[in-house]
This record gives sequence, C-alpha cells and structure tokens, in this order.
Amino acid sequence: MLRTRFTEEFGIEHPIVQGGMMWVGRAELVAAVANAGGLGFITALTQPTPEDLRKEIARARELTDKPFGVNVTILPSINPPPYEEYVRAIIESGVKIVETAGSNPEPFLPYYKEAGIKVLHKCTSVRHALKAQKIGVDGVSIDGFECAGHPGEDDVPGLILIPAAAKALDIPIVASGGIADARGLVAALALGADGVNMGTRFLCTQESAVHQKVKEQIVAHTERDTQLIFRTMRNTARVADNEISRKVVEIEAAGGTFEDVRDLVAGARGRRVFEEGDLDAGIWSAGQVQGLIDDIPTCDELISRMVTEAESLINARLSSFVA
Ligand SMILES: Cc1cc2nc3c(=O)[nH]c(=O)nc-3n(C[C@H](O)[C@H](O)[C@H](O)COP(=O)(O)O)c2cc1C
Repeated sequence: MLRTRFTEEFGIEHPIVQGGMMWVGRAELVAAVANAGGLGFITALTQPTPEDLRKEIARARELTDKPFGVNVTILPSINPPPYEEYVRAIIESGVKIVETAGSNPEPFLPYYKEAGIKVLHKCTSVRHALKAQKIGVDGVSIDGFECAGHPGEDDVPGLILIPAAAKALDIPIVASGGIADARGLVAALALGADGVNMGTRFLCTQESAVHQKVKEQIVAHTERDTQLIFRTMRNTARVADNEISRKVVEIEAAGGTFEDVRDLVAGARGRRVFEEGDLDAGIWSAGQVQGLIDDIPTCDELISRMVTEAESLINARLSSFVA
C-alpha cells in the first residue's frame, strides 16, 4: 500500500489518477480504474449533452461502487457548450470529485463546495497552481511539458515543475505528464508529489474504448513520436506524430493561421482515429511517454503492477543505496 495525503484526502486506495480524456474518459474505463483502486475521471464534454452525462455517470455507478470523478475542461471556444448545465448534472448526480482544467475554476467553485465536492485543478505552472490554491481548490494536478494534450507555453518539464510546485504549495499535488510505470510513480513521490496522473498510459489499456490500432501505435511509437501543434497561436497541444500533425506544424512554420489548419484539426477527424483506427485521419493526443509503453494491460494489471513495483523500488532498490 502507498498512502499519501492525496489518497487520504480524496478517499482512494492508490495514488494513481486517470485524467480526463476527450472521447476516451467513458464509464467502462473510469469504472475499471476505480475497481483497481485508482481515481478515474469521466470526461464531461465527451457526452453530447448534460443529460447524456447524467446517464454516463449512472452507467459508471452500475460498474463500480468505488469513488470516481468527472473532468470539466473549459477551453476557449466559439460556440461554448452549456457548462452550467454540465456542472448541474454532476452535482445532482452526487459525484464527489471533480477535475477542472483549461481555465480558472473560480466561477464554479462555490457550487462544488456547497455540494461537498472535492476539486482537483489541473494546470501547467506553479503560478496557476498557487492561484488555484488561493481560491480554495483541494488539490492540483500539474502537467509537465512532456504531457499529452495542453502543456502550456512555459516548456518546463516535470523534473523541475513538480519540486518547484511542491516547494510553493500546501495542498496535495498530483504529478502529471510522462508517467507510465512504477519508476515514474516513485520519482514523482520523491519529487514531492502526493500522487500521479496518467493520460497516454490509460489510453493504451484494454478498457479504453479506442480502436486497437491506436493502442498498437502507442506501443510502436517512441518518445520522439509526438508533435507540438498550435505553438504559433500560444495554445500548444502535444499530439501523436502522424501525417496530419506534421502538416499542421509545416503550415504554422510557413506563417499559416488557424483558418489554414481548421479542417485538419477538426474534432470529427480526431474521433475517426479513435473509432475507426485510421491513424492519419486527424490529430490525436499522446505524450512522449509513448516511449515507455510496451503493452496493453487491463487497468487492474497496470495499477497493481505499478503499486507492487513501486513498493519494491522503494524497499529494495532505493533503500539499498543508503550506506
Ligand atoms: C487522448 C487524450 C485526451 C485528453 N483530453 C483531455 C481533456 O479533455 N481534458 C483534460 O483536462 N486533459 C485531457 N488530456 C490530458 C490528460 O488528462 C493528462 O493530463 C495527460 O495525458 C498527462 O500526460 P501523459 O499523457 O504523459 O500521461 C488528454 C490526454 C489524452 C491522451
């Protein structure tokens, strides 16, 4: 058993989190993570309507009686979804943990607090983590530059970001980005984190509802097989290397604007990758940690292996260095 402030305060068994993942954070994956003793997040916006989110939460409840949460990612958008209604669906469904990401969670915090919901805010810098602590979130999940999805614009990797955050913050910290195994977990704990968050690793598990070819591609990919798109727009996203992501980077380098890549990066194209296994249909998030992933385990196999190996890394390898 690994016990930390995070497992204690969030009421979970192991300090391992499956972060929100668009098109991936569905009931089966989240329940599998929960049943294995980790903390899984249903991704609210993967559900087309707040009513569908209520059904997805109910479906997860049928699959597990352990705690799980919902991720609410609020990114700038031309046609914003009805966030208030999604939040109401979460609160009325009785979910007790929310992962916020993409923007300042302050407007919704009073509602979460009133409902007794614990908020884990995901951010990419110490200054944003400090702000989140100040406004009253219960924990922060901090993504280093290695991560899949949005690493921010500071380009600070976890080896620096996590201890810098640990030095500055009082609330529990979850290290995110670049973690796939016990070594990453133990390293994160050594750096001052109270737990780890993984995206790409959980994307490549049996229960993740994406096409088998995507999982096989993650296994085949190395740590060099990602691209950073939207750098020129200061909205960087780390995605898997493929024809489309390379083309987007090329267009940006030649001075292209969002309009020039809009069709290539459309969500519907990315969805085709996950549903049909057409790996070059669009962009899809994946991190540098692909280089550490070489199998497609169940969530239970993954989490128990990480915990058991972490215990022996601490008890055997690390303690053997102490003279
Ligand atoms: C396919 C995919 C989709 C993601 N979608 C979201 C999302 O909608 N909201 C969010 O907060 N993070 C999202 N993330 C980021 C993860 O929650 C997590 O922070 C990140 O993957 C950590 O880096 P790692 O992949 O190196 O573990 C996504 C990641 C992946 C791989």
